[in-house]
Amino acid sequence: MGYPRGRVPDRDYDRDVRPVTVLGVETSCDETAAAVVVDGRDVRSNLVSSQVDLHARYGGVVPEIAARAHIEKLVPLIEEALARAGVGYGDLHAVAVTAGPGLVGSLLIGVTAARTLAWTLGVPLVAVDHLEAHATSAALTIGTSPWPAVALVVSGGHTSLFLVRDYCDLELLGQTVDDAAGEAFDKVAAILELGYPGGPVIDRVARGGNPQAVRFPRTWIDAEHLDFSFSGLKTAVLYHVYGAGQKYGSVAHLSASQIADISASFQAALVDTLVAKTIAAARQTAVRTVVVGGGVAANSALRAALADACAAAGLTLHLTPMQYCTDNAAMVAALGYRRLLRGEIADLRLEPRAGLLRPALRRRRGL
Ligand code: KG4
Ligand code: ZN
Repeated sequence: MGYPRGRVPDRDYDRDVRPVTVLGVETSCDETAAAVVVDGRDVRSNLVSSQVDLHARYGGVVPEIAARAHIEKLVPLIEEALARAGVGYGDLHAVAVTAGPGLVGSLLIGVTAARTLAWTLGVPLVAVDHLEAHATSAALTIGTSPWPAVALVVSGGHTSLFLVRDYCDLELLGQTVDDAAGEAFDKVAAILELGYPGGPVIDRVARGGNPQAVRFPRTWIDAEHLDFSFSGLKTAVLYHVYGAGQKYGSVAHLSASQIADISASFQAALVDTLVAKTIAAARQTAVRTVVVGGGVAANSALRAALADACAAAGLTLHLTPMQYCTDNAAMVAALGYRRLLRGEIADLRLEPRAGLLRPALRRRRGL
């Protein structure tokens, strides 16, 4: 069973098949998503079913609950994505699926569904790396290909910088060694008892605060390497609120304006670091374009700071529109199309991976 790896049977998709209709499937974390994209750019449908309500009471994603919800939601969502796009199963030329990185139990649901569909329909299965999809998602709404570019991917699970030479030629320049940026937002919101998910609420509360009120650490901001670390920042907020040793103080003792100041100061420290590393990445790789994707790219302070810093450095900035920033399957179908054109077809025995699909794309530390 399965096509030989790297070969499409008797079809040249670049020349012989136009337009190419790809179904994208995304289940790497807590959003179930399906999309139909034609020729890698024309998004005919893009459906996302969020599980945020299921996980909110636990203050974070519970893998078992996420996987069970994917099982329930995925097939109806795929059918609706096809219906909204006005196509049937028989119109699909390929099925693209996120095969990693992510929660393996969640990925398994999407990968199994995609394998089954590809086998039943007799069309190629394309494995897509979730981070590469985020890194290239800005291109969905830009008329031309923006590459080469430095891509900042900031989400609840990841904080990474890529050099994107082309859709299928990415190099990982740096990533967080501990918490992701969104995770830091979520944890700081939990410390401040602001609710989950924390990013949007901190963004809002911080607008009424002073970003210079507390000087939180900006880990490795001046270091030449492009890795991030946010766990120290999170701990600094914890100690600021509860006191060293966590014996004294609590959120109950803080006024609304103190909470706003802490939120704004935390956000400023995180944003400063993200922006400095992104600009450093562009300088080190001599690239003139920056693209940004992932859920944290919704953050108003980050968007404003990136716009200022890129303008000052003479860089072109493309912020991915919101519907393609948070987890979605349009970005998966779009990148799947590019991989299909290159004949990068997955074996039907495709297994999900918790880590990057191509670990070798990691650039050596120190550039
Ligand atoms: O990309 P995404 O939807 O899912 C993951 O792949 O993780 O990102 C979700 C993350 C959450 O941590 C959430 O708190 C954060 O994005 N987020 C924000 C904002 N909106 C969502 N973080 C900061 N500011 C926001 N406005
Ligand atoms: Zn994501």
